Amino acid sequence: MARLNINGKMRDVQAEASTPLLWVLREWVGLTGTKYGCGIAQCGACSVHINDEVRRSCSIPLSEVKATDKIVTIEGLSANSSHPVQKAWAVVDVPQCGYCQSGQIMAAAALLKKNPKPSDADIDGAMTNICRCGTYQRVRTAVHMAAGGAPAGSSALPSNGKKV
Ligand code: FES
Ligand code: FES
Repeated sequence: MARLNINGKMRDVQAEASTPLLWVLREWVGLTGTKYGCGIAQCGACSVHINDEVRRSCSIPLSEVKATDKIVTIEGLSANSSHPVQKAWAVVDVPQCGYCQSGQIMAAAALLKKNPKPSDADIDGAMTNICRCGTYQRVRTAVHMAAGGAPAGSSALPSNGKKV
């Protein structure tokens, strides 16, 4: 059995030590906002925060997570979807199918925590999540919006005319 701190609550799980954290979250704890895409740490659909770092949960066995580690999933990022990244995502209408988007949001939130005013290059460097629907331009726009607005000279403006 393992004890995990997930979204501020202690959870006991009976999964095997080799079970990827992604499946612990989804199958044992019922937090299905974190998605399975590739299973080999390439796509980012499974991104969560561990101690404020964005991590790909498909490739972290349960045995590597300690009870003192703070795991945050998309469900625990904020109350009522009120995180600035979530608000910007809604204003910009970033998702298409939506499958990759919880991972994108978790990656963006971790980026802004470290770098509150990222450049386009910073965003492109940090946001390596794959989106089959090609929402990359809107992801970048929303990250700038969550950071407080589009930088001078950037094309990162909302395409739908809405304001935060
Ligand atoms: S499912 Fe984890 S990176 Fe793709
Ligand atoms: S919105 Fe469809 S995969 Fe990204």
